Amino acid sequence: MQNAVLVTGGAGFIGSNFVLDWLAAGDEHVINLDALTYAGNCENLASLDGDTRHTFVQGDIGDFDLVCRLLAEHQPRAVINFAAESHVDRSIHGPGDFIQTNIVGTFRLLEAVRSYYGQLGKDAQNAFRFLHVSTDEVYGSLAKDDPAFTEQNRYEPNSPYSASKAASDHLVRAYCHTYGLPVLTTNCSNNYGPYHFPEKLIPLVIHNALAGKPLPIYGDGMQIRDWLYVKDHCSAIRRVLEAGRVGEVYNIGGWNEKPNLDVVHTLCAILDELSPRADGRSYKAQITFVQDRPGHDRRYAIDAGKLERELGWKPAETFETGIRKAVEWYLDNQGWVKNVTSGAYRDWVGKQYGTT
Ligand code: NAD
Ligand code: DAU
Repeated sequence: MQNAVLVTGGAGFIGSNFVLDWLAAGDEHVINLDALTYAGNCENLASLDGDTRHTFVQGDIGDFDLVCRLLAEHQPRAVINFAAESHVDRSIHGPGDFIQTNIVGTFRLLEAVRSYYGQLGKDAQNAFRFLHVSTDEVYGSLAKDDPAFTEQNRYEPNSPYSASKAASDHLVRAYCHTYGLPVLTTNCSNNYGPYHFPEKLIPLVIHNALAGKPLPIYGDGMQIRDWLYVKDHCSAIRRVLEAGRVGEVYNIGGWNEKPNLDVVHTLCAILDELSPRADGRSYKAQITFVQDRPGHDRRYAIDAGKLERELGWKPAETFETGIRKAVEWYLDNQGWVKNVTSGAYRDWVGKQYGTT
């Protein structure tokens, strides 16, 4: 086994932040397997151009032969699975890709990893981990006064996205229970920060505000999400990988429950200060209430107590510090936003990376 890890979905929002932070913190080789769907963007990894510690491979987690080949070639000590279809609205519009990648893809990835694991020597098996990155949405929706989700909450997924993630979590659990694969599962709350694709609430609002477009609020805007700065999610995953107990589930969150409307008001206030509208009015003037998302979960809240108690992890950012950093990042990286929204980054991908 080598000093290497296989990261899947490492050109997406959280995966690319993870790869960048991982390589900033150490010298371990990262093999980055990503299918480059609409959500995968190699421009996120541009600062790693020429860095021999990073090997990017365009491919599907469901390609059993490819994954087996990568595992045999690089002999990683861990696999960290970010690859997924991740957007709830898209899953409502068309669940097929979610079933294919999140369920079938995870199954095929697990099969390849099981085969690799079976061929390792005892010491290498003891050191090996499969870390599956999942979501708090598998627990369903909370009522106003319910306690936050713990790892003991039953699974009650409500959208095709969360149902597909729940299925993948169950497969991961079963591969530990049945085949002895040393797995770890993390269930995290809503992330925000650099490289967030502008289909999700926070980057969409920043993008639309600056473009003079409506800021769409689904329903009454009083749905609650629990926000975590993406770098804190990455540090929690690193900590779980390092010290988590095999077969355990760890909830990750920052104790930052906010109604959507409050989040949008906060974004407008920061933008009013950092990039005021030409007419002097607040960006709040662009808020537009629209029809609600079908089956919209009312409230998510994560109890991250287990991760704090057992592994000593705490987030570095509060919502106030993190959201300001996120807005500043978008203001400083308007070229990235333009490429993502125009699709021009596809040309860049073609120039930078070949297909294996
Ligand atoms: P994302 O949509 O930004 O990125 C997903 C990445 O996976 C993309 O680079 C895409 O190209 C790649 N991918 C998709 N299908 C693939 C396949 N079949 N094979 C290989 N690569 C494929 O998603 P994200 O927001 O970065 O989420 C990453 C993971 O974290 C997901 O598993 C998601 O469920 C989970 N998660 C996300 C959040 C959040 O707030 N974004 C919160 C908790 C958990
Ligand atoms: O909770 C973790 C999950 O958070 C992750 O597993 C998902 O991958 C991630 O996409 C995110 O899911 P949400 O559905 O919560 O994120 P989204 O940004 O799409 O929406 C956040 C909230 O804002 C939600 O209540 C819907 C609302 N919303 C969203 C959009 C895009 C709006 O009101 N208007 C919008 O235009």
